[in-house]
Amino acid sequence: MRSCYLSWKSGSGLVSGSKKLRSDTESDPDTDPERNELNEPTKSNEPNKPNKPNEPNEPNKPNKPISGASIMKHEITLNINGDSYSLAVDPWRTLNEVLREDLNLTGTKLGCGSGDCGACTVIVDDRSVSSCLTLAVEMDQKEILTIEGLAPSGEELHPIQESFVEKGAIQCGFCTPGMELSAYHLLSHNRNPSDGEIRESLSGNLCRCTGYNKIVEAIADTANKMKSKRKKDK
Ligand code: FES
Ligand code: FES
Repeated sequence: MRSCYLSWKSGSGLVSGSKKLRSDTESDPDTDPERNELNEPTKSNEPNKPNKPNEPNEPNKPNKPISGASIMKHEITLNINGDSYSLAVDPWRTLNEVLREDLNLTGTKLGCGSGDCGACTVIVDDRSVSSCLTLAVEMDQKEILTIEGLAPSGEELHPIQESFVEKGAIQCGFCTPGMELSAYHLLSHNRNPSDGEIRESLSGNLCRCTGYNKIVEAIADTANKMKSKRKKDK
């Protein structure tokens, strides 16, 4: 019974154990009654029998890896602020996570995480995008502008940033990267926006501090500065 229990419980792993037990007895398998008893369980090791106890568990397939375990990371290349980054990302990670956590580009903020506040705004291939709602894998080979790339160099500010500072359009600053990139997107397509057009372009960006008037004023000021600069450059 003992060998039967062992071989039954542990399946093929103990088949070799029971074989060893037989060889240790050195008795004649045809004449030794104990040996015959020992031999009986080996029958249960015939191809199908050891697997029987597992059959009730078969529907649950407990030993099979869950499907998620086989999901592979994706190799992508992101072109950000003129630099190229090659990295492997899980398919469910957002562009915001990859920018902030993998590339340490923390100028892009995470506010609501649901597309409502605009704090995470970046420019992708000339489109204004909520990075919290954008999968990083979808950004493979795209051109991305974050707030870190807005100024032409580390030594000087972009005219939008200058105007935000000069007009007092920054208080806590949490909304500022998204606001400035929305302003950049607007001024890239409309050099002389009206106040209404400016406000409309900021409709996806929330600010808890400034009341918006100073931000609108700053963007209008930027438009004027850039117009003057264009005239001067002619
Ligand atoms: S964090 Fe993306 S819209 Fe608020
Ligand atoms: S300056 Fe604080 S949220 Fe806009």
